[in-house]
Amino acid sequence: MITNTELEYKGDLYPSKIVAFEQEGDSIFFHTDNKVILKVTVLRDSLIRFRFTTKGYFSNDFSYAIDKTQLHGYNFLEVTEEETYYQIQTSKVKAKIQKADLRTSILDLNDNVILEDELGFHWEESYEYGGNIVKMSKSSKDGECFYGLGDKATQLNLKGKRLENFATDQYAYSKDQEPLYKVVPFYIGLQNKQSYGIFFDNTFRTFFDFCHERRSVASFWAEGGEMNYYFFYGPKMQDVVTSYTDLTGKPELPPLWVLGYHQCKWSYYPENKVKEIASKFRELKIPCDAIYLDIDYMEGFRCFTWNKEYFPDPKKMVAELADDGFKTIVIIDPGIKIDKDYWVYKEALEKDYFCKRADGPYMKGKVWPGECNFPDYTNPVVREWWAGLFKELISDIGVKGVWNDMNEPAVMEVPNKTFPMDVRHVYDGNPCSHRKAHNIYGTQMARATYHGVKRFAYPKRPFVITRSAYSGAQRYTSSWTGDNVATWEHLWIANIQVQRMCISGMGFTGSDIGGFAEQPTGELYARWIQLGVFHPFCRTHSSGHHGDQEPWAFDEDVINITRKFINLRYQLLPYLYTMFWQYIEEGVPMLKPLVYYDQDDIQTHYRNDEFIFGNQILVCPILEPNSLGRRMYIPRGEWYNYWTNELAIGGREVWIDTKFDEIPVYVKAGAIIPKYPVQQYVGELEFDELTLDLYYKNGKENSVVYEDAQDGYDYKKGRYSFLSFRSIGKEKELIVQLHKEGKYETPYTKYRINFIGLPFRVKEIEIDNEIISFDRTNFDTEGSLVIDKEFNELHLIGW
Ligand code: GLC
Repeated sequence: MITNTELEYKGDLYPSKIVAFEQEGDSIFFHTDNKVILKVTVLRDSLIRFRFTTKGYFSNDFSYAIDKTQLHGYNFLEVTEEETYYQIQTSKVKAKIQKADLRTSILDLNDNVILEDELGFHWEESYEYGGNIVKMSKSSKDGECFYGLGDKATQLNLKGKRLENFATDQYAYSKDQEPLYKVVPFYIGLQNKQSYGIFFDNTFRTFFDFCHERRSVASFWAEGGEMNYYFFYGPKMQDVVTSYTDLTGKPELPPLWVLGYHQCKWSYYPENKVKEIASKFRELKIPCDAIYLDIDYMEGFRCFTWNKEYFPDPKKMVAELADDGFKTIVIIDPGIKIDKDYWVYKEALEKDYFCKRADGPYMKGKVWPGECNFPDYTNPVVREWWAGLFKELISDIGVKGVWNDMNEPAVMEVPNKTFPMDVRHVYDGNPCSHRKAHNIYGTQMARATYHGVKRFAYPKRPFVITRSAYSGAQRYTSSWTGDNVATWEHLWIANIQVQRMCISGMGFTGSDIGGFAEQPTGELYARWIQLGVFHPFCRTHSSGHHGDQEPWAFDEDVINITRKFINLRYQLLPYLYTMFWQYIEEGVPMLKPLVYYDQDDIQTHYRNDEFIFGNQILVCPILEPNSLGRRMYIPRGEWYNYWTNELAIGGREVWIDTKFDEIPVYVKAGAIIPKYPVQQYVGELEFDELTLDLYYKNGKENSVVYEDAQDGYDYKKGRYSFLSFRSIGKEKELIVQLHKEGKYETPYTKYRINFIGLPFRVKEIEIDNEIISFDRTNFDTEGSLVIDKEFNELHLIGW
């Protein structure tokens, strides 16, 4: 652990003057007198990689984070030499590299400085471990703001904070506690209306200091490895995030049911308890798609075994649950019990798959099963073996998803809560110690799990959820925010963590609704579910030590609120699925903090609570007890109150009255929101209408709806349906244009369009330029029109 203050350490070394430079295609090398090499690689016009070595040569270039299918290629690249610096120019930015010391500044084409080195790259030799502690410092101006970095439990804007990245099992963490479970060394800077991003792709323990130590300096450093970072230019935050997400990868679509509601607890057992929980959901008509088995389903916590006393016939149980629409998800941890009669242990031992200490013996640590050894998931052969272990669970028993936990990796009864640092890892052919592999251990476990589940679930889609993750883990897995607590403060934290994960490329995330540790009051649970249904992943989970956390553990009001909000989530499934599609296709985060939504409005820069769900719904949770309202900021534009349909003009902070069974939800004027009927689980009902809620706006607005078979891979062959709507509102007119793409034929044949906020009475309706007659059968007084889905243009003309 580094304890000295980062920047003023006297032992720091700096690059000296440039003595040689050469260009090889998209890379430019600068050699200094003291053997430092800076390699600048132009990946895209607004994406530049900076990689330093102090040895006079580069080691093998290997990263678990980078997606090999990322887009690259630029339009323009020119390197010029000036008297005191070299300049690398693309069609978007210029980087100036000082001849004297490699210090770099990046400017836009109008010569506005976007980001500039303070001391720039410097380092300290690590005599204890060998290698360097690598450091970077950048100048920061007063108004600069910082966002990103994954699961941090602190305010959204990180200005003034120092943060640490070291994956840690942080049971019942508190606000501002560092470090947490995930490691996303990516941040976004916003200065003078320009956004940029930095991804410091280094898996050692890293630190980020955003003007905490010195007001005008932002710095980051790692306890080993290389100074290796990517610079993204916006100037829109949207572009920074999508380009980071493209670089580190996107997931595939989950099956639609995964976007439903999930119920979990530590632990549901035996079998009749699981079934009782499931049937209670159906009885109370609270939709639910998934139920989880936590560690007690196993025999003595041995992964890939079943406790036959609690679960005598798992296959039968899983099938019966499936008949009722429930998918079964099971937990699998990395620790393999040391037990010579346990087949998984025996196999791994025979094949020499466990992690070893530097001196040779297998690394031993205690977790739930007692003493365990731990597979080295950084070995591709081990990952392949691990993937194969899922055959029985998935193919034979019918489990639909796997939950990976304790993969920071967590070890009990030791002060550092994890492996000793000398443990050796294969690291895909780049052997190293746990210092380097620690932060990616969980991701490699989830990756192996994903490949296993996918293989055996095929032709259906897999579902994996993990607790620990490093940048890029989103390609394989969803995640949750770990062991939170049933407190109001944690509701605030959950709201921020999920937004932050969304702008950190890893948006398929949710919190343990209601809190994991301790017991929520009914009111807290209700407020949490009201937020949780707007998170990409929606699951109630609890430690179960203090009581029950199913909706019916609370009073009638809370049960009704839970049903009302889960119903709303199920109605919004096509909207949610569409935002997921935009995430996997374009890297657009599913939730958008207000600053992401409108960075030019400085009112948004320090907002935490409000966010945009998808593109067109504004949500603001109630985060305090006994509140029937709150102050909130409505971003610029026109918004309809979802509950009252009243129009609000944004760009201001207002007091909003709510009820206990409501939180502030607004829909953007002009939006068309697709809805399905409430179902108890995905696929329960066949229906002939897609509901479209159209919120009138005087002006234009686009809305899209993505649909497909809801599972399987046909969508990759073009079998999807993509509807693009454009609504054009005028004083006494409304035009809706529809453009369709894709080869998937949606099962419904009609749209039911609900017109909200129409400022005129309808005199005439034309569909594709033909006047249609309308009466109560297709256009009722509430303003809802039922029409055939095959239309190109709908035209309402008013009085
Ligand atoms: C860890 C997990 C939690 C799980 C428990 C038992 O605390 O974070 O979700 O329920 O272990 O497996």
